[in-house]
Amino acid sequence: MVPDIDQICQEALAAIKAVSDLQTLEELRVRYAGRRSQMRQILGGIGDLPPDERRSVGQAAGKAQKDIEAALAQCQAQLELELESGDTLDVTLPGRPPRRGQPHPLSATADELVDALRHMGFAVADGPEVEDEYHNFDALNTPSDHPSRDLHDTFYLTDGQLLRTQTSTVQIRVMETQPPPVRVISMGRVYRNETVDATHHMIFHQIEGLYVDTDVSLADLKGTLTALARHVLGPDTQIRIRPHFFPFTEPSVEYDFSCTICQQRGEVGGHRCRVCKGTGWIEIGGAGMVDPNVFRNVGYDDEKFSGFAFGIGVDRIAMIRHGIDDIRLFLESDMRFTRQFHGD
Ligand code: PHE
Repeated sequence: MVPDIDQICQEALAAIKAVSDLQTLEELRVRYAGRRSQMRQILGGIGDLPPDERRSVGQAAGKAQKDIEAALAQCQAQLELELESGDTLDVTLPGRPPRRGQPHPLSATADELVDALRHMGFAVADGPEVEDEYHNFDALNTPSDHPSRDLHDTFYLTDGQLLRTQTSTVQIRVMETQPPPVRVISMGRVYRNETVDATHHMIFHQIEGLYVDTDVSLADLKGTLTALARHVLGPDTQIRIRPHFFPFTEPSVEYDFSCTICQQRGEVGGHRCRVCKGTGWIEIGGAGMVDPNVFRNVGYDDEKFSGFAFGIGVDRIAMIRHGIDDIRLFLESDMRFTRQFHGD
């Protein structure tokens, strides 16, 4: 019995039409037009047919064979053309959205702090990261034998300059160029010769604040820091100040924000709070009333004016806000890390 030539032909043409790559096309060529294909076998077996069938079967099979070969050739030409022109675009696929950047978590935190302080009336100043000893230490009333000047703590450059260890340098630069009253902040990188670990880095970020006017008191400092704390960590945040020492402030304090991770319970889910280490308070920075010696160094009348200054650890605040437990992540530029802070 002769297989249905028309059916085989339709099947072959449909399969060829659906092909989208040259390899599959080659497989179809073997199957439908190869030496052992059904159509070849039909053509080869014509001689065995009864004489009155030979002519019609021969004609039908010959035509089917031609149609299949033509379809194969056309499909091949089409696929090669697409490859050549790179035109394999499937216009029905949805487009690929371009990857959008977003601010680094440190930038976002710094921007928010700076914004809050600007709304309180502070102007923004800038200062160099490569500083001289005068602005980093001398003018800030730091004695020449003060341990922070040690090579252990400060990166010195070969020309007698250094990488600033604190943004307090900007206090001096601002007061040198403008008379009181002064209300200024500055945000930037600082450098210390630290052994790098999860909570210490040799590069970190500070915001410096300086307020000088007549009758400025420690209460103004506390009020400013409280407003700032509530702005960044929420309206229930408390602050506390503890006595400390800095050469350029007198009295000097360190200040803490209440821990908003454990709500000062000291524990989260039965475990000691990692952020405040169970104390309920997080150390944020140093502050104090500007030392009269600093005023004298910049030519301000220390009898007439008083002021406060504070430093904020930006990295630390970003870590608290996002529950980040390793400061090194900030500077590694690992996109798997930075991409997590959408819409911060
Ligand atoms: N500069 C100090 C530090 O880096 C912080 C500070 C700033 C202290 C302003 C007092 C006043 O630790």
